[in-house]
Amino acid sequence: MDIVVRPNAEEVGVYAAELIAPFAHAGATLGLATGSTPNPTYAELVRHHRENGLSFAGCEAFLLDEYVGLDPANEQSYYSTIRREFTSHIDIKDAKVHSLNGLASDLEAEARDYEARIAAAGGIDVQILGVGTNGHIAFNEPPSALDSRTRMVDLHPVTVADNARFFDDEEQVPRQALTQGVGTIMEARTIVLLATGARKADAVRALIEGPVTPACPASALQHHPRTTVVLDEAAAAKLTR
Ligand code: F6R
Repeated sequence: MDIVVRPNAEEVGVYAAELIAPFAHAGATLGLATGSTPNPTYAELVRHHRENGLSFAGCEAFLLDEYVGLDPANEQSYYSTIRREFTSHIDIKDAKVHSLNGLASDLEAEARDYEARIAAAGGIDVQILGVGTNGHIAFNEPPSALDSRTRMVDLHPVTVADNARFFDDEEQVPRQALTQGVGTIMEARTIVLLATGARKADAVRALIEGPVTPACPASALQHHPRTTVVLDEAAAAKLTR
């Protein structure tokens, strides 16, 4: 695991975009996180697209997760979020931006089909990840099996509270989601995990310095051969080594 510390969230975005740009250029299959942490990275990649001609035309993309029961047209669905924050501003083909359907009548079949779609695309070349304050990656809440696959999960109360900021009130936050599993994510050939802000400092310490355990799903990345963790100073503040 490589660890990079930058002064602030904007600089994390600049650094991460430099890591990801060559994959776009090569027409790679991208794994995209939503949430707020990757937004400076996406903004920087959009800037590279506009100012330097970085093209995503040959790329395919897969989202990590989606709320169950939320209409894709809802502005808080991850289907809508990734288009608003990133993919509608670049030249990737919209049909190549894959997401889980949280309204599917058979959620187990939806999860199986998503794994098949990732496999058919040749797997994920570079996966962008955030981390929850409770150590989740995607919506793999503690405890999550480190070999788990795409499935439906209940959201942890901490995650519901954390994500209430995106909704009018906490009652509106869906209580279930579809998520790629930890094992699914671990198959990505390269992983770039981003964490910014003091709220993430405990999770960052657990994921880097703690034991590899289902109690901190992000700790599985200690066993991933090509992971770079890009932190701002606030998120790195509790690292001891
Ligand atoms: C989102 C996702 C989540 C977030 C995590 C951090 O697709 O998979 O694991 O990365 O909850 O969220 P933010 O970045 O909003 O702090």
